[in-house]
Amino acid sequence: MRLTVIGTGYLGAVHAACMADIGHEVLGVDIDAGKVRALAEGRPPFYEPGLHDVLTANVGSGRLRFTTSLREAADFGEVHFVCVGTPQRRDSPAADLRHVDAVIDSLAPHLHRPCLIVGKSTVPVGTTARLTARLRELAPGVDTEVAWNPEFLREGFAVQDTLEPDRLVVGTDSDRADETLRAVYAPMLRAGVPYVGTDPATAELVKVAANSFLATKISFINAMAEVCDAAGADVVTLADAIGHDTRIGRRFLSAGLGFGGGCLPKDIRAFAARAGELGVGRAVAFLRQIDEINMRQRRRTVAIARNLAGGTFTGRRIAVLGATFKPDSDDVRDSPALAVAAAIHDRGGEVHVHDPQGVDNARAVLPALRYAADAAAACRGADLVLHLTEWGHYRDLDPAALATVVRTPKILDARNSLDADRWRTAGWFVRALGRPAPALGRQPARVVIPHGSGCAAPADGDPLSLSPK
Ligand code: UDX
Repeated sequence: MRLTVIGTGYLGAVHAACMADIGHEVLGVDIDAGKVRALAEGRPPFYEPGLHDVLTANVGSGRLRFTTSLREAADFGEVHFVCVGTPQRRDSPAADLRHVDAVIDSLAPHLHRPCLIVGKSTVPVGTTARLTARLRELAPGVDTEVAWNPEFLREGFAVQDTLEPDRLVVGTDSDRADETLRAVYAPMLRAGVPYVGTDPATAELVKVAANSFLATKISFINAMAEVCDAAGADVVTLADAIGHDTRIGRRFLSAGLGFGGGCLPKDIRAFAARAGELGVGRAVAFLRQIDEINMRQRRRTVAIARNLAGGTFTGRRIAVLGATFKPDSDDVRDSPALAVAAAIHDRGGEVHVHDPQGVDNARAVLPALRYAADAAAACRGADLVLHLTEWGHYRDLDPAALATVVRTPKILDARNSLDADRWRTAGWFVRALGRPAPALGRQPARVVIPHGSGCAAPADGDPLSLSPK
């Protein structure tokens, strides 16, 4: 089939490459000529494991091309996938649909052949219906329809999640649109991927409901971590124990610094805002607390770090391991790690940051921090080391070697993923979130967490709510 993918950011670039990989003729479209050029040369504009290979293979075969022209897209495509960003609005927690609307407005005048427009971006429920009405106005008489087919891909696993998804969710208003999308995804359906065919409103909601559930799991375990800290109990053992219950499951129960990135935080805020518009804000009022618990982990980490640094950051050299919002990504959007680093810098600390992939993006957002070429350089002379993003690289570090370069061998593992015994054997004092700190005996490690705004909509200028674009 002849498909276009409009918007070649994180979602669109991966979707375009993977659709070509399963046999379609694909034209990727973006207004950014630089991005189009890079993709056409097989160079992904961001770090994503596996994407380079699938991109170069399909650009090489001629099945995957890129353009800046929506006219060319309209001439070419039977199906147009809309993959543009829906960030949080600057003035409210709601989603900013400017880019989605702009695609429809710019594409509509060029449409002349029967086609299906399929949204993949995360949008407020009701968007398909609104865009359908808009399209009828802008392209009267054209045989076209809007459907919604949310993506569930995780950064770091985006290619795998696209080629072998857990499920396909497709919301359409007609059997014809449903059949078209079944044909697009035929290879996956033959491989047994579950297909949930439904109406557009349900499909739109599935996405935000899934992200809300995942965010709830993370904030739940982080709330437990704080209780564990107060009680001298161990949240990792607790998560293992409750995770054995198949009704609960162990995944997304890793306590730590909390969630960030371009999706979960803004999606739960936009969902709550949309529910409010629909008059059911109270039904999802808990989402605000999920957000608050999440943002609290950043303040909590800064407060614990300050205690470990001797009650002040002034005159202290702090090594930060990790800048991205999660490992295997170079994405620093709303990164908890970077937010903590920025807050410590603002409070007088000399912060040296290392990240295996995210330094360029981090530097662009926070040029005032110092960036190190490797973990040892970041740790040199440090009074305290903070482990803030759980890259496998940091698990493999040699704690004995690092102990020789720091000033004080003291580490806060805010992702609970280092082998604490190994580090302690190498002479380190190790503090983790929600785990007993042996050097303090079984005494609860009490810290005072400054009261925050709750941060349902991050206040501009508060580095703990940092939401780099
Ligand atoms: C998420 C959803 O998982 C995906 O389905 C959706 O399409 C987009 O949003 P992603 O943003 O790539 O994907 O990140 P994810 O792997 O879900 O992690 C989100 C954040 O939660 C990260 O900051 C991660 O460090 C954190 N996290 C995750 C935890 O703190 N604890 C966990 O147990 C799991």
